[in-house]
Amino acid sequence: MEKRGSFGSKLGVVLASAGSAVGLGNIWRFPTEVGNNGGAAFILVYLCFVFLLAMPVMLAEFVIGRGSKANTVGAYRTLAPGKPWIVAGFMGVLGGILVLSFYSVVAGWTLHYTVESFANQLTAGQDFSAVFNKFVTNPWKPIAFQLVFLLMTHFVVSRGVEGGIERYSKVMMPVLFLIIVVLMCFSLSMPGAGDGLRFLLQPDFSKVTTGVVLSAMGQAFFSLSVGLGCLATYASYFKKETPLVSSAFSVCLLDSLIAILSGFIIFPAVFSVPGVSPDAGPGLVYITLPHVFNEAFAGLPVLGYLFSGMFYVLLLLAALTSTISMHEIATAFIHENYKLSRNSAAVVVTLVCIVLGAACSLSFGPWSDVKIWNRGFFDLFDFLTAKFLMPLGGILITMFVEWYLDRRFVVEQLTNGGTLKVRCLSILLFLIRWVAPIGVGIVFLNEIAN
Ligand code: ALA
Repeated sequence: MEKRGSFGSKLGVVLASAGSAVGLGNIWRFPTEVGNNGGAAFILVYLCFVFLLAMPVMLAEFVIGRGSKANTVGAYRTLAPGKPWIVAGFMGVLGGILVLSFYSVVAGWTLHYTVESFANQLTAGQDFSAVFNKFVTNPWKPIAFQLVFLLMTHFVVSRGVEGGIERYSKVMMPVLFLIIVVLMCFSLSMPGAGDGLRFLLQPDFSKVTTGVVLSAMGQAFFSLSVGLGCLATYASYFKKETPLVSSAFSVCLLDSLIAILSGFIIFPAVFSVPGVSPDAGPGLVYITLPHVFNEAFAGLPVLGYLFSGMFYVLLLLAALTSTISMHEIATAFIHENYKLSRNSAAVVVTLVCIVLGAACSLSFGPWSDVKIWNRGFFDLFDFLTAKFLMPLGGILITMFVEWYLDRRFVVEQLTNGGTLKVRCLSILLFLIRWVAPIGVGIVFLNEIAN
């Protein structure tokens, strides 16, 4: 058995965990939700949920991971031997594989759009909706791009915890941040930027309906990658000196910052083109934005070309940092549970995701008639994870930490054996014990009912 990996530095811990959180959820889903739910008021509600609901679940995952030093199934086996809590661990492994399978379809589209941007193919005068539909319904092209993306994920994971995940997160996250800042400066200098900023910054609380509140909760949960065990798996590589509370706080702060800055890129650009609506739904990034890039930079196509290429690279990096953490859940489990080498375990996970991922991709084209519970594979996997496994996992994880584990063990983890002074410790424990499971329970019931 190879020696168990660990993250080498505090910066590595924060960047790898923030990488798991920062993904398509921040750059694609968050602006879409903001656009659909009325702008600034949604952002404020969202931020409350990040810190009151998602951060406690993240802390609970950190306690489970670092407290057991094992993969997500092994963690329950260590902390609650012979008890049914282990089901939460298996749900995490299954959830990670399912998310990776459908998420890599969208990541594959992003890779294709990156290549098309740099090849200067997303030029004005095209019907971008038709272009997008033609691509995603093609039987093999999206699968080819998805395959390349999965191999990129495999490459990083198979290099190990410190030499792969930590090393590449330390490069990818600063690059991602730099691209965001550059694109934001571009976007804020556009003629309609003022309207975009007003949309983002002026809260209109009359728009805050129950539906908006529930969407904000669901988004906070998805964006922070909590409930599946990605963060518990990463925390199992934390050292005993790693401060759990301040690391979780930094990850939540970085994730929210990147989501909001993505809004600062997208909305000023969208509002600078007359007739384009900010509530274009999921087509925003692949249909609306190519049009926006062309129109907004009509006088200077070279800038449009650069902007568009950098934007899709940004999306690609964000997707990659997240898929690495989903891959790691199952890789760590297979490696430690079945005593396979880490490399072979990673190969098994990649192969399974290639097959399931292809089924998800084909559900947009030749397999669009294949339905299970009235859903194609892509929608089915999305439904099973975002609406079922993630919230249910979140409830079980927080209940396990606050209702099953010994309170002294939890406090010991959160304070590093009493060596750290954690302000608001009792508030955090209250959030983990009551607010998180009840809040997530409400989202769960609402999602199931819809
Ligand atoms: N947290 C990941 C994202 O935001 C899943 O995309």
